[in-house]
Amino acid sequence: MFKFGFSKGASISRNPLAEIFTKGFSTQIRRKLEGKVALITGAASGIGKATATKFISNGAKVVIADIQQQLGQDTAKELGSNAAFIACDVTKESDISNAVDFSISKFNQLDIMYNNAGVACKSSPSITDLDLAQFDRVMSINVRGVIAGIKHASRVMIPRRTGSILCTASVTGIMAGLSPHTYAVSKVTVIGIVRTVASELCKYGIRVNCISPFVIPTPFVMEDMSRFYPGVDAQQLVKILHNSGSLEGEICEPIDIANAALYLASEDAKYINGHNLVIDGGFTSFKSLGFPAPDQR
Ligand SMILES: NC(=O)c1ccc[n+]([C@@H]2O[C@H](COP(=O)([O-])OP(=O)(O)OC[C@H]3O[C@@H](n4cnc5c(N)ncnc54)[C@H](O)[C@@H]3O)[C@@H](O)[C@H]2O)c1
Repeated sequence: MFKFGFSKGASISRNPLAEIFTKGFSTQIRRKLEGKVALITGAASGIGKATATKFISNGAKVVIADIQQQLGQDTAKELGSNAAFIACDVTKESDISNAVDFSISKFNQLDIMYNNAGVACKSSPSITDLDLAQFDRVMSINVRGVIAGIKHASRVMIPRRTGSILCTASVTGIMAGLSPHTYAVSKVTVIGIVRTVASELCKYGIRVNCISPFVIPTPFVMEDMSRFYPGVDAQQLVKILHNSGSLEGEICEPIDIANAALYLASEDAKYINGHNLVIDGGFTSFKSLGFPAPDQR
């Protein structure tokens, strides 16, 4: 049991109000990733781009690794001199290894590795029609790409005995029935990878965590929705997506994931390890019985 009490000689600040004010003020202006270097896969768009932007505004230098060369280069240009782009297909281990080495040659170190690249899957909802070739393709990006990223980040982080590794999982990895089996299995696996790897890397002071976002209308989700609702315009599709949330008055946006990533990557989360931070407005925490109101039976 914990025991609470003041030890002899312990003193309380003479002017607690002034101390609170000073601390509060300095926290507000502190850039949480000052001097840090981050590598983010899938950062040419969506969640990865929002996170790169957030990290840079908090003092980090960011390497954007993505399979989309032109978009990746444009994103890096847009984010300025603290961003750099490297072409990287996460299904190729050598590309990931190069991206890690590039981060070090460009910015001298690697403090944060965010394995964020991922794809949706177009497979049938029924297990009886599961397309195993597609299963392998999705796994090679969403799962193999993540573990390869962790492997190569660890290669450079272990000798320094410090680092923060992040991955993007999904609400579909914690609650079944929200997506086709292939995508769901890939995201369940990401959550598992984080736990197993954290059990080893904790010995070196390296933290490994993941984030599970709710649905956000980024390019891959919009592509999926257009296939499902042919002929429906983008605005309508975004509305359908936003209406599926459960927290009244708010919607899930890339910035919500970027804020979570900033928290997990920073000193604020120095004792958070092996964790899956769910950003879903409570969606996966409850289910309503949907009983009719007494006057509507
Ligand atoms: N948008 C959502 O609703 C949602 C919800 C939960 C989880 N996620 C996850 O968030 C992550 C980011 O997706 P997003 O929503 O920002 O979509 P997005 O389409 O905007 O971004 C995905 C990025 O990954 C890149 N990419 C795809 N395959 C790659 C490969 N082989 N190598 C390197 N880069 C590759 C794409 O070029 C793209 O820039 C994914 O892992 C996705 O599964 C998204």
